[in-house]
Amino acid sequence: MPKIKNKKKDTYFLKLSNKLSEINQFLTYPNPCVGAVLVSKNKNRIAFTGKGGSPHAEYKLLKNEKNIQNGKLYTSLEPCSHRGKNPSCVEIIIKKRINTIFTSCRDFDKRVFENTEKILKNKGVKIYYYNKICEASSNHNFSCKNRIPYVSAKIAISNDNYTKHKFKRLFTSNEALKFAHLKRYQADSILIGKNTLNDDNPKLNCRINGIEKNICKFLINPNLDIKSYIFKNNFLTNSYIFHESKDLKKIKKANKNFRLIYFKFNQLHASLKILKKIYELGYKKLLIEGGANTLQRFMDANLVNELNIVKNKQYFNKHGLKSLSKIIKPKKMSLIETILLEDDSILIYKAKNVYRYN
Ligand SMILES: NC(=O)c1ccc[n+]([C@@H]2O[C@H](COP(=O)([O-])OP(=O)(O)OC[C@H]3O[C@@H](n4cnc5c(N)ncnc54)[C@H](OP(=O)(O)O)[C@@H]3O)[C@@H](O)[C@H]2O)c1
Repeated sequence: MPKIKNKKKDTYFLKLSNKLSEINQFLTYPNPCVGAVLVSKNKNRIAFTGKGGSPHAEYKLLKNEKNIQNGKLYTSLEPCSHRGKNPSCVEIIIKKRINTIFTSCRDFDKRVFENTEKILKNKGVKIYYYNKICEASSNHNFSCKNRIPYVSAKIAISNDNYTKHKFKRLFTSNEALKFAHLKRYQADSILIGKNTLNDDNPKLNCRINGIEKNICKFLINPNLDIKSYIFKNNFLTNSYIFHESKDLKKIKKANKNFRLIYFKFNQLHASLKILKKIYELGYKKLLIEGGANTLQRFMDANLVNELNIVKNKQYFNKHGLKSLSKIIKPKKMSLIETILLEDDSILIYKAKNVYRYN
């Protein structure tokens, strides 16, 4: 690998490209959001991936440029080398005669991994990998390497650790609700268990003013036990349901509103296989929103990367149901941040070790 010169300036532009990758970070699925900076003798420019994943940052940056002199490109993730819905970034980089690329990390998408470097080398373009941490790229790489989505989970509990109150449906503050919607915004898919579906009849959408975002909904419901009012909930239309029902009447009825995935729950690594299926469908960041039983299964299988507990100050005492006490095992999770709100605290845990593909 060639020796790196003028490191400070390069680090500055790389960090800038990482910052740019945050702008559309949660709006470019299934593609990662990439930040790109062009530095040349006659012009400097910036770009980032467009909403919905197009155009790619490097393409947007270079397509209208003419006569770039001594061009250096800085990117938060190495440029892609395949043609899909978007043209290959490597092709435009070669066409526009960029001679050096500095990038924060490799792309573990199998269509890119090691191909980009090979093609660029053959054309005499130097590429330097700096291993700078970029959140948008590392989330993307986690799912590409492990072929499952990055999993974040959110659950609300009372001060005495109950996830459900006998009589009240919602028990956290409006501020905590905003946090919940932020978590939805930061994911491309959401999953709940069958009791949450039937008890709460939820919308599962992202309700943040000014943000329109489609988040794909996954429901786990082994026997297709769906209450009649769920069929009237338009927000859930086209959700995927994992089930193993053989009841043709239930299947026919559910098929009208939902997309059914037949799945054998009684198999080894069932929860992992659910995640693999979600990844195959193109989703890379999943939010598990409960209830306790569903969360427990994914936690036990070491599949939750990040757990967000919204702890309310009320005690439920004898009205408390579904305790969360046994879910967090300190050996497996570390508390990394606490956010204090007026009536709730948000405890953010990260897993010490999660499932890794090998
Ligand atoms: N506090 C909160 O943040 C929060 C969040 C969501 C829900 N809730 C409340 O909690 C209650 C529901 O919680 P819950 O624990 O009773 O039920 P749940 O988690 O909604 O559903 C549990 C059921 O889903 C199926 N399931 C889920 N994951 C599975 C997996 N990986 N493999 C196989 N089956 C799986 C199982 O069905 P089978 O039993 O048929 O196998 C399981 O019994 C609701 O009343 C809701 O109001 C609270």
